[in-house]
Amino acid sequence: MEIERRVLVTGGCGFIGANFVRLLLEEHPTWRVINLDKLTYAGNLQNLTGIEEGECYRFVKEDICDAPAMDELFAAERIDSVVHFAAESHVDRSITGPAAFIQTNIVGTFSLLEAARKSWLGESWHGNDPRFLHVSTDEVYGSLGETGMFTETTPFDPRSPYSASKASSDHLVNAYFHTYGLPILITNCSNNYGPYQFPEKLIPLVFHNAMTGKALPIYGDGKYVRDWLYVKDHCEAIVEVLTKGNIGQSYNIGGNNEKQNLEVVTLICDTLDKKLGLPESGEPRRSLIRFVKDRLGHDRRYAIDASFIKEQLGWEPKVTFEVGVEKTVDWYLANQDWVASVIDGSYREYYKKMYN
Ligand code: NAD
Ligand code: TYD
Repeated sequence: MEIERRVLVTGGCGFIGANFVRLLLEEHPTWRVINLDKLTYAGNLQNLTGIEEGECYRFVKEDICDAPAMDELFAAERIDSVVHFAAESHVDRSITGPAAFIQTNIVGTFSLLEAARKSWLGESWHGNDPRFLHVSTDEVYGSLGETGMFTETTPFDPRSPYSASKASSDHLVNAYFHTYGLPILITNCSNNYGPYQFPEKLIPLVFHNAMTGKALPIYGDGKYVRDWLYVKDHCEAIVEVLTKGNIGQSYNIGGNNEKQNLEVVTLICDTLDKKLGLPESGEPRRSLIRFVKDRLGHDRRYAIDASFIKEQLGWEPKVTFEVGVEKTVDWYLANQDWVASVIDGSYREYYKKMYN
């Protein structure tokens, strides 16, 4: 078979990366996908069970900060496309331990950009038109009041160590375009939810706690607003940008779906009550909600104006929040072993079983 594209997916064992690898292997059988992941606590090889290594797929356990390893991989695999997900991604962890965020999100992105620059802008490059797609977040734009939306030209105003590290990486990626002409694209997306999300983030955490009768912690007054997008919609948008986007352009991706945290949590509880009946206590699961101390520097509201990507590339979200939550709850119910192995840490053993 002739391989038409040789895509390096970084962070492909994480939540969105794993959904993306699955989508590529299903929908682009002539692409070779090289999934490079350090397997931090957030990387889980079980997210890719059923996928075999071969002509279309290879897994590489590596750190994006290892610059010589990145150079070697670009040369050995003749990478012509990068979709860069690898990052430290949890805001709460960035507050208690920002160093890893600076290292992976900034230094790691830098080492990938350098590898791409050396490989693609040197005289020896004879491959496809290359593309470096950097996956970023709406959090780079800061926090909104009750009105307004983020567009592609909203000035950056990051306020957590996580969002500041992502904004720094976006700036570096743009700098490589303007300075060296590296063919880059950037996507800034709102909050994702769906299968394989690590249960430290709101939706899978609430699912797990509601299933096990634990308190459901709501930070502050619970009126913080996020714009939720089903993960498959995000992955499809990335493919559109990678294949049809304008080099040098940033694209906002969002769900047109603003919800207060309290609404999200009660919807998950009510969906579980509907599907499983009330728990033994006889109390609806929403009675487990507890208002707890607020996150430091908690951004009040995010909202994405996704009209540019719709106009330019024809992408818009397909999955409504109600349907997406239903699918997500069904997935977690059908995959309780996955949740249990993440909670008890045994998912870490899976790598040893597979690769030792
Ligand atoms: P995640 O935390 O679930 O996964 C991150 C993956 O990156 C893990 O597999 C981890 O092992 C890997 N990784 C971390 N450090 C690495 C390193 N130094 N070298 C190689 N691999 C490393 O994250 P996610 O939620 O899937 O997010 C993926 C990307 O999408 C991130 O860049 C994030 O900023 C961005 N994003 C996420 C959301 C969201 O709602 N989750 C929204 C918008 C943008
Ligand atoms: P999170 O899933 O951590 O994503 P992000 O901080 O990147 O938006 O949190 C989503 C929202 O839910 C955010 O406003 C913080 C809030 N939250 C809680 O109220 N309780 C929790 O236990 C968690 C993890 C988050």
